[in-house]
Amino acid sequence: MWPYPKVIAHRGGGILAPENTLAGIRAGLEQGFHAVEFDVMLSGDGVPVLMHDDRLGRTVAGVGAISSFKAEELVRMDAGAWFGPQFTGEPVPAFADVAAFCKLHRMWMNVEIKPAPGFDRETGRRVAELAQRLFEPEISARAGGAGAEILPLFSSFSFDALQTAHNVAPEIPRGYLVDSIPRDWQTPLLELGAVALHTNHQNLSPQLAREVKAAGYGLLCYTVNDIQRARELLAWGVDAFCTDRIDLIGAQF
Ligand code: G3P
Ligand code: MG
Repeated sequence: MWPYPKVIAHRGGGILAPENTLAGIRAGLEQGFHAVEFDVMLSGDGVPVLMHDDRLGRTVAGVGAISSFKAEELVRMDAGAWFGPQFTGEPVPAFADVAAFCKLHRMWMNVEIKPAPGFDRETGRRVAELAQRLFEPEISARAGGAGAEILPLFSSFSFDALQTAHNVAPEIPRGYLVDSIPRDWQTPLLELGAVALHTNHQNLSPQLAREVKAAGYGLLCYTVNDIQRARELLAWGVDAFCTDRIDLIGAQF
């Protein structure tokens, strides 16, 4: 049984606000979303921040690798202006600040660990260490029988990052993220002690969805922006999906 919300705001605020910013997460909240996916990468000095691309240029003006900047430099950079003038000055947020915001507003988090190339284990370790500290009360409450939804769900395309996160913070659950489901998909899930498989809906079939569900795993799809397609996937047994169209597909869908 999937203990988390069914519809998840992708990269914070979907199409309504700049991705991976607090403004984005606030936009989701204003639409009634209490579930959010965002991407977490390391600054050059090892601080987890919200970031999708491993280089400046698309959402933050400038050039260079994210790993060549310290956190104090990144959090002063503008991650909003590219999206629209009303978001000018919206900073790159630290994961710790975002986690505090989400906890305050009772938003469930799918924390996608997004290592820059070559930083897989380091990113898994740092993100998991920080999450272990930030969610210490929730981890204790969970051990005492509280519901699963009080903890975030880690996910990653990086097996190594998730494996390291598993070692560092075993109580924080994991979903293995794949673009298309490999033939031996159960092996990495077992090795990671994962609770879910996260996959690109475009490469999913009803048969594969049945297989994953029959094996007892959660099944999450990204990124579903069409109402008919969302209905179809749920009919196949998909538990949850993230969407950019938080304006079109409501949290209660
Ligand atoms: O976590 C699902 C989805 O966000 C994966 O793709 O590139 O949007 O991070 P991406
Ligand atoms: Mg993502």
